[in-house]
Amino acid sequence: MTDAIMTDATMTTATTAVAEPGVTVRLEIDGTGHALEAPLCASLLDVLDEAGAPVPAGCRAGNCGSCVVLLDASPVPACLVPAGRADGAAVATARTAADPALVARLAAAGATQCGYCSPGLVVALSHALRVAPAALAHPDAVRERLVGHLCRCTGYAAIVSAVVATAAAMADAEAEAGRPPLAGTDTTLDRP
Ligand code: FES
Ligand code: FES
Repeated sequence: MTDAIMTDATMTTATTAVAEPGVTVRLEIDGTGHALEAPLCASLLDVLDEAGAPVPAGCRAGNCGSCVVLLDASPVPACLVPAGRADGAAVATARTAADPALVARLAAAGATQCGYCSPGLVVALSHALRVAPAALAHPDAVRERLVGHLCRCTGYAAIVSAVVATAAAMADAEAEAGRPPLAGTDTTLDRP
């Protein structure tokens, strides 16, 4: 009896292909235009990978910060952005969003992090320095800005020193140029 049931089940088993609904996503990625086909459920992180501009994927839940990119000039975790919602946007990864002065100071401070945490960190901190450098003049402010960026090795001290030094150098340069400090508040929440 059991054999008969198993045989029947085997004979009647068939796979039914279900077409997955998709979406066309047009993006400017690091200055280059792309048109990509993606499943409706795809994230911006997925389509960046498809476009040959991968960013590191850690938690895929918005908690680690490894996938942070600039989306129309605002930092966001690419894993939390539905690909369709990014249609028509400009995306900057660490390739174009990194501040060279910050990168140089991070290297000088020995804060050369790994390939998982560095890109997102550099994108977010470069953005914060660009919009409100004076707000990063204190180590506590930098630590606050690092919330949502996880270094599994806990190597935060050198990063904080490098950011504070970069912010101070930017403030000095502004003062020498006779310009008022850029003291705006970086209110970006890194959430779409
Ligand atoms: S992979 Fe996007 S925040 Fe962790
Ligand atoms: S150096 Fe990248 S996770 Fe710690």
